[in-house]
Amino acid sequence: MATQNIYILGIESSCDDTAAAVLCNGEILSNVVATQEIHEKYGGVVPELASRAHQQNVVPVIHEALKRANISKNDLTAIAFTRGPGLMGSLLVGTSFAKSMALGLNIPLLDINHMQAHILAHFIEEKGFEKPKFPFLSLTISGGHTQIVKVSDYFEMEVIGETMDDAVGEAFDKSAKILGLPYPGGPLIDKYSKMGNPKAFPFPKPKVGDLNFSFSGLKTSILYFIQKKVKEDPDFIKNNLDDICASVQFTIVNILMDKLKKAVKQTGINRIAIAGGVSANSGIREALVKAEKKYGWETFIPKFEYTTDNAAMIAIAGHYKFLAGEFADMSITAKARIKF
Ligand code: KG4
Ligand code: ZN
Repeated sequence: MATQNIYILGIESSCDDTAAAVLCNGEILSNVVATQEIHEKYGGVVPELASRAHQQNVVPVIHEALKRANISKNDLTAIAFTRGPGLMGSLLVGTSFAKSMALGLNIPLLDINHMQAHILAHFIEEKGFEKPKFPFLSLTISGGHTQIVKVSDYFEMEVIGETMDDAVGEAFDKSAKILGLPYPGGPLIDKYSKMGNPKAFPFPKPKVGDLNFSFSGLKTSILYFIQKKVKEDPDFIKNNLDDICASVQFTIVNILMDKLKKAVKQTGINRIAIAGGVSANSGIREALVKAEKKYGWETFIPKFEYTTDNAAMIAIAGHYKFLAGEFADMSITAKARIKF
């Protein structure tokens, strides 16, 4: 008997990206993201505007994902959606849509944890990309989260370190805001860093115990430093932008790498994967490649489009949930805060 293909539609709406993707047996057929530009002028995501934009985008984005995958909705095997964590109003749009669609098509529904999905993005079938073997450590770094996760199996994950205050993406974005750069400033800090001296301006590293992180002190010390320098020279930022960005990035990457080294030592696991929007950062990517040579780590860096929020990661998590037979029922609700 011929084995049946598994077609999973993934729907992601936890923050400010409305995304849909179709996978067939874990391989990408389409991956569509509508980024909401409306938040740029407010310097951060405005929850009420985000949920309204999801309402507008969700149907066209799913329609486009099915079209690019060249399949009909009737070919779908199951629908996976982000249940949380995220902004409640945003999550409600994807959750309600996924429930209605699964009910209409009479196919299974799969609820996905957004943070687990960031990690499972490594399991999308992709030429030239090896999948990590279990167990491995994931450094999950995004605009909302900073975690070190011990991953023992697809859905067996334990957070062994996390931020006590700001997420690392926020540290990048808030530092960029202090420098007058638009939101989200992380990619811009990365861009200017490439031309700057990382040791030009030393910033203090936080003292926080175990495998946990703290970034709010760094943001404050950057703010005071800039305020002082601008008082002495109003053109300080303009004349030193590359060096300031390189120094900020250098400090953040060092904070992350120090904790990762500690986690490797504590767990004895030296297989390291990175996940989340900030894993697009060139500084952390270079530091990992170096660590591979220096400490003999095995490192896994995802394809760029699977790092920031996307629905392919939701669909691959759905694929493995489908194989495990773990389905959601129609009484499921969105959840803004969820543990693993
Ligand atoms: O995972 P993501 O798309 O959304 C959340 O779930 O938060 O992550 C977005 C975050 C933003 O803070 C953005 O500034 C940051 O990822 N980011 C970067 C880079 N690309 C995206 N930060 C530093 N360097 C980058 N190249
Ligand atoms: Zn995310």
